[in-house]
Amino acid sequence: MAILAGKVALVTGAGKGMGKSIAQLFAAEGASVVVAARKFDAAQAVADGLPGNALAVALDVSKADQWQAAVAAVEAKYGRLDVLVNNAGVSEAGSTETGSEESFRRQIEVNVMGPYYGYRACLPLMRKSGDNCSIVNIGSAFSVRVVPGFAAYGASKAATNAMMQTFALELAMAGDPIRINTIHPGGTETEMLEEAYAETGLPRDEAVAMFLKIHPNGKMGKPEQVAQAALFLASDMSSHTIGAQIPVDGGSTIRP
Ligand SMILES: NC(=O)c1ccc[n+]([C@@H]2O[C@H](COP(=O)([O-])OP(=O)(O)OC[C@H]3O[C@@H](n4cnc5c(N)ncnc54)[C@H](O)[C@@H]3O)[C@@H](O)[C@H]2O)c1
Repeated sequence: MAILAGKVALVTGAGKGMGKSIAQLFAAEGASVVVAARKFDAAQAVADGLPGNALAVALDVSKADQWQAAVAAVEAKYGRLDVLVNNAGVSEAGSTETGSEESFRRQIEVNVMGPYYGYRACLPLMRKSGDNCSIVNIGSAFSVRVVPGFAAYGASKAATNAMMQTFALELAMAGDPIRINTIHPGGTETEMLEEAYAETGLPRDEAVAMFLKIHPNGKMGKPEQVAQAALFLASDMSSHTIGAQIPVDGGSTIRP
């Protein structure tokens, strides 16, 4: 039987990158996937390519009212929600002492407030959906091992780790079966990584070499590798895993 058969999974930021890979793998493993993206057309384009009974929703994760509307649409179509993947995120280099305050706030709004609103909006429907619900957060290796220029990004992901660990603990201690876990990707080949290369101001090959140095296995990651870890955490295979922080980073968080 498919690993996620019978489950409904909402993936944020699923119009491209890791979110799209996660949506594709979950659908291939039998989930009904709710493809959430800021632009409805982007969500619909991904949903149209998925097997199963997918739903596209417009969702800017930094807007609490849009979360309410998205969850209402999920309840109307499926009557349940088993998995939430907080994948949407922004990364902007340049947060130094003279960096842009607006950029700092934007990263907090999306990377911290997004999962916060999502948790509050999804919990009531997840509670009605049975004993095997799971929230999967896409964090970052940059919140575990900090990198110059990424203070805002690292801070936002570290704040979300602490918030989600707290929620995971509260749920477990209350006997609530909803589990929360986090994946920490290292550099992963998506548009976000291309933007990070460009933000260094170096020729692309030099920027790539610089990023490769923080990956002891000498490789950047692929979105599909993050999706595999998300599949484990979303599924009943991880039923006793709570508050885990799983690196998918080529060893970058344990580098000397
Ligand atoms: N690519 C990497 O090297 C890397 C490394 C570590 C962690 N991450 C994290 O992985 C996740 C996915 O990133 P990616 O690499 O696929 O990047 P990406 O830029 O390809 O995709 C990010 C997605 O988030 C969406 N998004 C941004 N702001 C949003 C908002 N306010 N509301 C809804 N959606 C929004 C974008 O539209 C896009 O679909 C992010 O949380 C990112 O921080 C990425």
